[in-house]
Amino acid sequence: MALITLRQLLDHAGENGYGMPAFNITNLETLQSVMVAADETNSPVLLQASSTARKYIGDHFLSHMFMAAVETYPHLPVCLHLDHGNQLSTCMSAMDMGFTSVMMDGSLEADAKTPSEYEYNVSETASVVEVAHARGISVEGELGVLGSLETGTGEKEDGHGFEGMLARNQLLTDPLEALDFVKATDVDALAVACGTSHGAYKFSRRPSGDILAMDVIEQIHAKLPNTHLVMHGASTVPQYLQDLINQHGGDIPQTFGVPLEEVERGIKSGVRKINIDTDIRMAMSGSMREFLQNNQSSFDIRAILKPGKARVVTLCKERNERFGCAGQADKIKPLTLVQMADRYAAGILTYRAA
Ligand code: G3H
Ligand code: 13P
Ligand code: ZN
Repeated sequence: MALITLRQLLDHAGENGYGMPAFNITNLETLQSVMVAADETNSPVLLQASSTARKYIGDHFLSHMFMAAVETYPHLPVCLHLDHGNQLSTCMSAMDMGFTSVMMDGSLEADAKTPSEYEYNVSETASVVEVAHARGISVEGELGVLGSLETGTGEKEDGHGFEGMLARNQLLTDPLEALDFVKATDVDALAVACGTSHGAYKFSRRPSGDILAMDVIEQIHAKLPNTHLVMHGASTVPQYLQDLINQHGGDIPQTFGVPLEEVERGIKSGVRKINIDTDIRMAMSGSMREFLQNNQSSFDIRAILKPGKARVVTLCKERNERFGCAGQADKIKPLTLVQMADRYAAGILTYRAA
């Protein structure tokens, strides 16, 4: 078994200057594809499941699917991460079912819609850290609210973003506040707001610095050089996938995601975890549309899903290679949760100043 924690994985990524794509898993096929891509590129694996995915799959099925992935590829270090936990109880139930890392997203209240007060974020996140670190489990926090700098609006389409409008300063993580937040909570990784948002409709044009604020990431990294930064909403929304969907009965208005070059720039400034869900969904659903349009009499769901699996493998392999985690899997010797808990207890992994 090569289960690994987020902290150990991102420490290795930081020491070796690469980024880890964190792939959202929504069903068996997406999980299998991510694992094949990792195996073919000798990459460590960072799997994440949202609360919505947990509900869709069911915790019992999900934990067994995860364990099947870990056992099928015993030579690959695999981190199991909860995406956007909304409160302590959600994070604890994930820890109980075998996740080695949880995100406590205290940038929003427990309803996952209302932007929270800073003090609320600190206290909720710190209480998750206390419980998790005692078990050797890692914690990702979030400071700043994800949303569009172009329009000031949230991201209701994914069901967990805020509704309505926010000011530009609320949509960008403040570097000084980030420093204070990490010191106060001792999170292992920090998700930051820099103009990205979940889903396909991130930007109405190829993003420039005014709407994708990579300089804010650089400023946060200058204040927190030893803290692993996380970029949410980091799908590229590639044109070829928009075309694939639209050429086979879909209707996706022209849109733009986060260019891979911008992610690479972020990796040079401390971004270690890069969240990708939308690209996988587009590859899968576009391929299903194409297959069904070309095979009108088919109802074999295995045949319908197979081309999507192949496209997801290709996409994930490209991300592994571009972000630099390809070739790293066999260089990591995973520590157990007990070993990680001992390190936290000894104060080895607490916040370190620049
Ligand atoms: O956090 C954002 C991911 O895209 C998860 O989305 O809640 O629909 O699974 P979801
Ligand atoms: P995308 O919607 O850009 O894939 O982002 C996913 C994400 O941030 C999950 O937490
Ligand atoms: Zn996210």
